[in-house]
Amino acid sequence: MKQLEDRIRQEGAILSDKVLKVDSFLNHQVDTELALATGREFARVFAGERITKVLTIEASGIQFAMAAGIALGVPFVYAKKKKAVTQSDKVYTAQVHSFTRGETYQVTVDQRYLGPGERVLIVDDFLATGAALVGLVDIVRESGAELVGVGAVIEKSFQEGRGLLEAKGVRIHSLARIVSMKPGEVQFAEEDSQ
Ligand code: G4P
Ligand code: NA
Ligand code: NA
Repeated sequence: MKQLEDRIRQEGAILSDKVLKVDSFLNHQVDTELALATGREFARVFAGERITKVLTIEASGIQFAMAAGIALGVPFVYAKKKKAVTQSDKVYTAQVHSFTRGETYQVTVDQRYLGPGERVLIVDDFLATGAALVGLVDIVRESGAELVGVGAVIEKSFQEGRGLLEAKGVRIHSLARIVSMKPGEVQFAEEDSQ
């Protein structure tokens, strides 16, 4: 997605050879028009898949799942990282180790909001080590819902996430695929290699 790649080039801060900070338009302040455009693009790419639900994980995936849900005309659900007192005991769970926070946590989805008969698109801001996304894939499969694919806004192709998801037979579509990065220079994969 050209518009997204341009913003990453203009505003992305490369904190190390592995971490890209995009707080000005994606992870802290959010460009609402750009977010809505990512939703339309996911809807276009996965058209014909009869998606009934979008799934993400709090917090930074929510605005993109909402955008995809709007474009597809379906609800979205976000997996929770902390168990709330109001939450039912009937939940699907997965263990996730966070790469940016360095801690392991349990993600949960209430069983009422995911199950057989659903066709699910998982959406998230980053595809990096794949830990969070693999957890969501496992939750969808445990629920008996059909997984249509994973849509990532930004993929860091030099990390292992894509390989882990492909090994699970998951269709992946990323709107910006970074093959390498260093300060002042972000290299994207060619469009036709997606
Ligand atoms: P993933 O590939 O399945 O997303 O798993 P990974 O464990 O690698 O990444 C988990 C967290 O790290 C996610 O946020 C993800 O958005 C974030 N992340 C990974 N790489 C980058 C990066 O280069 N830049 C930024 N800004 N974030 C990155 P999270 O910790 O689950 O929390 P939240 O921010 O969504 O609340
Ligand atoms: Na995320
Ligand atoms: Na994040």
